[in-house]
Amino acid sequence: MSRIFINYRRQDSEGYVGRLYDYLARHFERDALFMDVDDIPPGADFVQVLEEAVAACDVFIAVIGPSWLTLADETGARRLDQWNDFVRIEIASALNQNKLVIPVLVGRARMPSPAQLPDDLAALCRRNAFELSHQRFSYDAEKLVAAIKTAVPAHPSFKPRPDSETLRRKEAALKAVRDDLVGATESPLYAFRIENRYFPVLGEGHPDANILFIGEAPGKNEAAAGRPFIGPSGDVLAEMLRGIGLKREDVFVTNVLLDFPGKRDPLPEELAFYAPFVDRLIDIIQPRVIATLGGFAMAYMLKKLDLPEKRGKIGQLHGKLIKTRLPYGEIHVVPLYHPAVVLYSASQKDLLRQDFEKLKLFI
Ligand code: URA
Repeated sequence: MSRIFINYRRQDSEGYVGRLYDYLARHFERDALFMDVDDIPPGADFVQVLEEAVAACDVFIAVIGPSWLTLADETGARRLDQWNDFVRIEIASALNQNKLVIPVLVGRARMPSPAQLPDDLAALCRRNAFELSHQRFSYDAEKLVAAIKTAVPAHPSFKPRPDSETLRRKEAALKAVRDDLVGATESPLYAFRIENRYFPVLGEGHPDANILFIGEAPGKNEAAAGRPFIGPSGDVLAEMLRGIGLKREDVFVTNVLLDFPGKRDPLPEELAFYAPFVDRLIDIIQPRVIATLGGFAMAYMLKKLDLPEKRGKIGQLHGKLIKTRLPYGEIHVVPLYHPAVVLYSASQKDLLRQDFEKLKLFI
């Protein structure tokens, strides 16, 4: 996790910083953003506390507004010149520790010259500054996020693209699961599949996807085509993915049932039958994020992993990032509402959209 320290002066740039914080919180975990070191215990060496807080960060953002350079206290003395000024101590400490320091200019502020700064801050002028304007805030902030993501190690849940050999191996393994599913004559839904000339629906997407979506069961459209999420729910899923800059082919999409059960909920024996197939998909793809769509998929994952949340309801758990482990490494389970639930409700759709925003942490 990249930790980001935001250094600023309240009287100078508070409005901008609030907006910047909210923007960064959509791309990085809130726990990774530090703004105010305000829980300094009585008697503690506050310079040391500030230095330790700076030491814990990967990126240090120094927000410089129009009065940053000149703000003075009630006696008329410039704040930056005072030995106990938090802003100065933090910046000096970040420079001293050779952190990635990004001066961010707001409110048309200009970068000061070394002669205008105390000696321990002079090196700040050599750090390339970034301008965040009010009018183009989202555009500028997006560029800042991209710069941070490029400069510091990505979230550990980010998976680099695999080499062609890994991809080939995974494609072959997925094909073997698909073949087994086609021949799964012992499935409780096999007879129904054959009678109606339906196809089984293993799922589709990137064989090495970082995010695996698990829905409930293919519908009639999906069973007729042998592909998951191609009806109205699929349209919602595609819209949500687009909203966070992803395409269907960047992720993998499957279900807890791999055959159409008819227009009803999955039965326990059906869920039990397909579980080993879904587990094989997880083992092959090795996603770092498993996003469950709806209550059935959520319950399946939380029970399989025996997580403390396993008896929770989707109304409480949706949008949570539940960190856990699989044999291949750390993963997050992210319960989401099923796209079908939001089809006729704008407010539910907004909730789903907000929950999808959390997935941006992993892309
Ligand atoms: N609903 C699901 O849960 N899965 C699909 O594939 C389609 C609709």
